[in-house]
Amino acid sequence: MAKKFYIETLGCAMNVRDSEHIIAELTAKEDFEATERLEEADLILINTCSVREKPVHKLFSEIGVFNKRKKEGAKIGVCGCTASHLGEEIIKRAPFVDFVLGARNVSKITEVLHKPKAVEVDIDYDESRYAFGDFRTSPYKAYINISIGCDKQCSFCIVPHTRGEEVSIPADLIVQEARKAAKSGAKEIFLLGQNVNNYGRRFSSPHEKMDFTDLLRRVSEIEEVERIRFTSPHPLHMDDAFLEEFARNPKICKSMHMPLQSGSSRILKRMKRGYTKEWFLDRAARLREMVPGVSISTDIIVAFPAESDEDFEETMDVIEKVRFEQIYSFKYSPRPLTPAKDYAGQVPADIGSERLKRLQNRHAEMLDEMKDGRIGRVVDVYFEELRPGGRVAGRTDNNLLVQAAGSEELLGKIVKVKITDTNRLSSEGVVVA
Ligand code: SAH
Ligand code: F3S
Repeated sequence: MAKKFYIETLGCAMNVRDSEHIIAELTAKEDFEATERLEEADLILINTCSVREKPVHKLFSEIGVFNKRKKEGAKIGVCGCTASHLGEEIIKRAPFVDFVLGARNVSKITEVLHKPKAVEVDIDYDESRYAFGDFRTSPYKAYINISIGCDKQCSFCIVPHTRGEEVSIPADLIVQEARKAAKSGAKEIFLLGQNVNNYGRRFSSPHEKMDFTDLLRRVSEIEEVERIRFTSPHPLHMDDAFLEEFARNPKICKSMHMPLQSGSSRILKRMKRGYTKEWFLDRAARLREMVPGVSISTDIIVAFPAESDEDFEETMDVIEKVRFEQIYSFKYSPRPLTPAKDYAGQVPADIGSERLKRLQNRHAEMLDEMKDGRIGRVVDVYFEELRPGGRVAGRTDNNLLVQAAGSEELLGKIVKVKITDTNRLSSEGVVVA
């Protein structure tokens, strides 16, 4: 009888894809099948995030619970970014953990499984040409890694220390994977990397010269691919050629993530982001001008060390000017191994909370303004998920979440929907064709 594993995934889309790789390895190379019930699992995995401090705390409380609820003899493995940066420290703090597997060592899951107290966290390990087995959570959308690691050294960010140096995955492998997924029904291809538009900067074996714009073109040439999304691009590398391809290529979804982090050029410099407020505003304005109807999302950190009231006002000014359709905002969290944790001028927590609240409240007002005019519009929705009560959910090209009455037969189809009701981030509609 097959053994059972239970997996919990925290963090970003890259972690989601890493978990899919882990599942593929366990089911193809070992006799495992997935379970949703922790108590019956022979193997319990947690795929962790370390980008802010909170998820790290969460890890230790979660695995404590796993240890209490697990069945006799079940193994517990800690994977992902926190595994990379804490390594054997995890087993010291939680001795019941059986192995630790870093974010850049996923292909070794079937090895560590059989080595008691194994710790595989080498961040120089090259997995860029490893052929993982096939597993996808959704048959309609295929996540595909295009690079691993990150070469930027943003002063607040732990990712380069957990995922290592940036290596691009050979284009032929990406295209092959996209073709296979699309032929089996995934109309949408979601390209993943920490810094996708820096694609082609370094390959680990000889490769033709290629950048992200070229890669987008190659993937869009696959006939069965109807939608392409990607995350995260870096504002610094949003050159005209990239924006032109984004605007021109009908298969590229018109939703762009532009992680701002701060609107103050002085703070951006201390963050080592490589661009100024003016560059960011110029790129965003150019994007709005070239792509009518585009939606722009962003990430913002408030209360970075030495952020003054004036610096914060600069961030608020960018929000007024760009009118982002979505903002992921965070209070700065000092991370080990990063230079910013030792910077002078750490901002008191209550000031950080105030700034975050002001930003979020102002953005909520803007979303209320933006949603006016949505009702009555007819949009193309790619339905991907069943929802309780005989409903389906999907997204428009520009990433608006839309729900409608419907069942399985709508899944995997791009359908015209008339919006009948809306709140800030999602809408209700009826299928019209
Ligand atoms: N490569 C991605 C970033 C990955 S981290 C990108 O450029 O978009 C995801 C987000 O977490 C970042 O964009 C940043 O806004 C936030 N973040 C990273 N480190 C942080 C820290 N120390 N404190 C608070 N937020 C942080
Ligand atoms: Fe982090 Fe900056 Fe890379 S935010 S993931 S170091 S682009």
